Parts: sequence; structure tokens; C-alpha cells
Amino acid sequence: MKIAIIGAGALGSLFGGLLVRSGEEVHLFDPIAKEHIAAINAAGLVIEEAGEMIRVAVRATTSIEEVGQAELVALFVKAPQTEAAIRGALPAIGPSTLVLSLQNGLGLEELMEKYLPKSRLLRGVTAQGSTLLGPGRVRHAGRGPTWLGPLGQVGRERLEGIVRAFNRARIETYLELDIARLVWKKLLINAGINALTAIFGVPNGKLVEDPELNAIMRGALAEAVEVARAQGLEFRLPEVVAEVEEVCRLTAANLSSMLQDVRRGSETEIDYINGAVVRLGEERGLPTPLNRLLVRLVKEGGKPR
Ligand code: PAF
Repeated sequence: MKIAIIGAGALGSLFGGLLVRSGEEVHLFDPIAKEHIAAINAAGLVIEEAGEMIRVAVRATTSIEEVGQAELVALFVKAPQTEAAIRGALPAIGPSTLVLSLQNGLGLEELMEKYLPKSRLLRGVTAQGSTLLGPGRVRHAGRGPTWLGPLGQVGRERLEGIVRAFNRARIETYLELDIARLVWKKLLINAGINALTAIFGVPNGKLVEDPELNAIMRGALAEAVEVARAQGLEFRLPEVVAEVEEVCRLTAANLSSMLQDVRRGSETEIDYINGAVVRLGEERGLPTPLNRLLVRLVKEGGKPR
């Protein structure tokens, strides 16, 4: 299958490398990560996994014109870059190309629908973990399931073909038709973990070890669960808390993607995570003071006073 990966960050590079290794035709496109792309073209992409180094020959480019039309375009950019990424990827999107987003955050579907009909759009979430080690090198930091499904009417055969291709690449993947619930479930995990770890500069595990941080996390999740309910999605708070705490334990030593963004000085996904909870809460007249505070602290916390 011809797959164009848009965004050669940690996760995009990992998926690209794994899919090439299992025989797919992958084109990794990133107009900004010039050094990383040059390193991949010079010596391949190195994936470090459990102490082993795997080198794969991925086609990488900073020019979308070199990609040509793909069967699948997969977006791996940060949420705030979604719209620019779709616009930039248009030359690779032909009349039957499907576009998949495995990004964090809520509200990306609407951005995708500005450019393509639902019948060409797929959404998903992934629990794969990856860290960019340097130009041309990523670490496969954790394995976890990936789910994807269609936003509109997409032929079952094509969906299953993509799921099979991912599984062949040893990316454990399932077809999920209730995508809205899945995206919210991942949102709750990110809303509980990312902002707090970024504000306090702590690894994920700290949110179960530190009773004060844990209480704030629970409070933010309680607000988010109410907003989800108002959107027609029922989640039970104790189950959500248990699940988020389980992710904290499983990824105890990991630095969340938002903490990594803050440390790099990059734009964070806060507007699409806790910010989305605040926005949707406002629309429904639901107060979300803790999520609002988390958004402000992520945005303003580091500024000199
Ligand atoms: O964004 C992240 O960092 C990850 O989605 C998660 C699950 C919170 C683990 O760090």
C-alpha cells in the first residue's frame, strides 16, 4: 500500500519505519524537520527497540510533490498544525485517497472536514510510544493498541486492508466504528495527564504518587466527564480515574508529550485537550474551572513576571 506519512516527528517516523519494514511503500514528508529527513535519506531511519537497533530505508522528503498520490495519507503532526498539514498534503491526496488522523486532541475532525468529505476520512488513537533521539533516530518507547475507524461511509474492505497492513507491521491495530467515544476516551487520558505533568515538570507516575496532584487530576477529569455527558457520551468517573491512573503507572517514567513540548519551547496541544473541555463546557453552560486553570498555567506559567 502506498502510504504518505505527514509529519516526521517521533510517532510519524516510528509508524513509517515499521510500515516500510513490513513491505509497504512509505513516503515520510516533513517540510520543517530538514536535518532529520536528510539523515534518513543518507543512512536510513534507525529505530531503537529494547536495546536493539533496526535500520530501515524510508523514503523521506521535504517536498510533497515528490510523494505523488497515495492510497493512505496519515497525519502525525501536532494538533495545532493539523490544518496547515492537510493543506500541505493536498498534492498527495487523489480522488480515492483516505486520510487518517491518529493525533491527540478533540476537534480535529472538523478541521479535516473543511477539506475532504467524511467518506474519505478516518480517525483513530494510538497507545504506541516513541521518542525522537536525534536526526534519523527514534526509540520505540512503548507498545500499545491502535484503533481506527471511518468518520463517514468508507468501504469495509479498504478499512480492513489498512488494519491488516498495520498489523503486518506489528502495530497492533483494531477497527472501531464508534470513533467519537474512542477519541473522547483518549482525550480524558490526555486531559488528566498532559497539562499537570507539563506544569509541574514531573513524569507521568508522579500523578498517582503525589496526593495533591492526584486530587487536581481527579477534579479535572470530573469536569471533563460532565462535558462528555453533555455531548451524549457516558463515562463513569471511577472507571475513567482508574484507567488514567493505570496509564500513569504503565508510563510512570515517561515524560508526557506536553512536558516535552514545553521543554523544547514548542507550541503545545493544550487548546485541543483541556482547552477543548473548557470550550465545549462553555457551549453547554457547564463550569470547568480546573481545566480552565490548567490551560492558563500551561500557557502563562513559564512567563517571567
Ligand atoms: O501525550 C502523551 O504523552 C501520551 O498520550 C500519554 C498517554 C499521556 C503518555 O505520556
